[in-house]
Amino acid sequence: MTATHAFWLAGRQVSGEDSFDVTSPWDGRVVGTVSVPSDAQIEEAVATAYAVRDEFAATPSHVRAAALDHVSRRLVERTEEIARLISAENGKPMKWARGEVGRAVSVFRFAAEEARRFNGGEAQRLDTDLGGQGRLALTRRFPKGVVLGIAPFNFPLNLCAHKIAPAIAAGVPIVLKPAPATPLSGLLIGELLAESELPAGSWSILPVPNDRMPALVQDPRLPVISFTGSEKVGYAIMDSVPRKHCTLELGGNGAAVVLADFASDEDLDRAAGRIAAFSNYQGGQSCISVQRVIADASVYDRLLPRIVAAVEAQVTGDPSDDATDVGPLVSEDAAKRVETWVDEAVAAGATLLAGGKRDGASYAPTVLTDVPADVTLACEEVFGPVLTVQKADGEAAAFAAVNDSKYGLQAGVFTHDLQAAFRAHRALEVGGVVIGDVPSYRADQMPYGGAKQSGVGREGVKFAMDDYTYERVMVLTGLAL
Ligand code: SIN
Repeated sequence: MTATHAFWLAGRQVSGEDSFDVTSPWDGRVVGTVSVPSDAQIEEAVATAYAVRDEFAATPSHVRAAALDHVSRRLVERTEEIARLISAENGKPMKWARGEVGRAVSVFRFAAEEARRFNGGEAQRLDTDLGGQGRLALTRRFPKGVVLGIAPFNFPLNLCAHKIAPAIAAGVPIVLKPAPATPLSGLLIGELLAESELPAGSWSILPVPNDRMPALVQDPRLPVISFTGSEKVGYAIMDSVPRKHCTLELGGNGAAVVLADFASDEDLDRAAGRIAAFSNYQGGQSCISVQRVIADASVYDRLLPRIVAAVEAQVTGDPSDDATDVGPLVSEDAAKRVETWVDEAVAAGATLLAGGKRDGASYAPTVLTDVPADVTLACEEVFGPVLTVQKADGEAAAFAAVNDSKYGLQAGVFTHDLQAAFRAHRALEVGGVVIGDVPSYRADQMPYGGAKQSGVGREGVKFAMDDYTYERVMVLTGLAL
């Protein structure tokens, strides 16, 4: 018997008539039962957020910063319990779940800091021409309107944090929908926010079923949509509301390039270790996990066996065990999809060097080479613990191989050469280039988002605050400047 988790409607804990079970992808046990809001309750959340928008925008920054600091501190105090919750509902191994809580701690702390310095106003003198004599422009940012945040399952706490913390920091009301597979961690943020002093209605966390989302997406009182999830759903949302402001954090098929100068035994051991860890972290269910390795021909033969050995050394199993590196995928269906894609690649001529086996929702860490360019695995985001390795003749060919993708989220380049780093930064069509490491590095304050089909707009606390607001200039006249 598990407790039924109420949802958060305008800052209050409320139950609906319907509910659904959240199950562990590892052993199928029920982790929690979640109450579902009715249409009337969803309407109340939207109406209250809309009504409170001016009041919230005018809330002093110390009030918003205090609430955000409070959540950050409480996350620290409850780290172990929250990590267990993430691990139970998502299947994420504890070592990664603890890391996720730590990142959410930082997101709320950064948001508190940004709330204190945001919107100080920027003055610009206008007497640069006769017509502007005695005039000064003062620019401040104001909310575009209530945000509808839609979060994915793969970072059930931190990607909810990335929607809600910047909204509070900028004084923008938000209605947040956590993922149906993993709503418990997002709902827990509500518990911590409810301990603070924010205006009622400034935030709601509603586990709205996906089939009832179109009405919310269309609601004109929610002019900003911040979505993280699949390319298909993200673009369907954007196409259905072309006049709304949509930020889309979508997929990627992260490439790690190993250039010719990264060639010592120590270099190759390090590259292989990082690649193995970050193609498999969270079962590969991160938009910036390593899916493709592109190695210079001069290092390829020494790198490949190291990668295979490091991948085979990943500890698979029970996510609640501290020793586990790779747990299950989010569902058996997700693992079956990965299995189909790998089988298709092997049938088309790819060479399987490790893994390639499914057990329920778990898929073994997998390495392939010789993957034909037209198979699904080579073209789409696998979102599973699968790595393809290919050879490139020189830097330009390696960078061209990275760009030979519809996606462009992040890329990693293993090199010691500063000039090569700058060339990579210029050449690679991605939102972020990580030098000396895998593409899977994200610091939560930095701008994060994609080029090409990987999305539109940027997250990262300050960047999301900019995204939720717009500049409004005030011209002062008749001044003695
Ligand atoms: C994502 O998978 O979209 C986010 C990755 C991260 O926050 O590390």
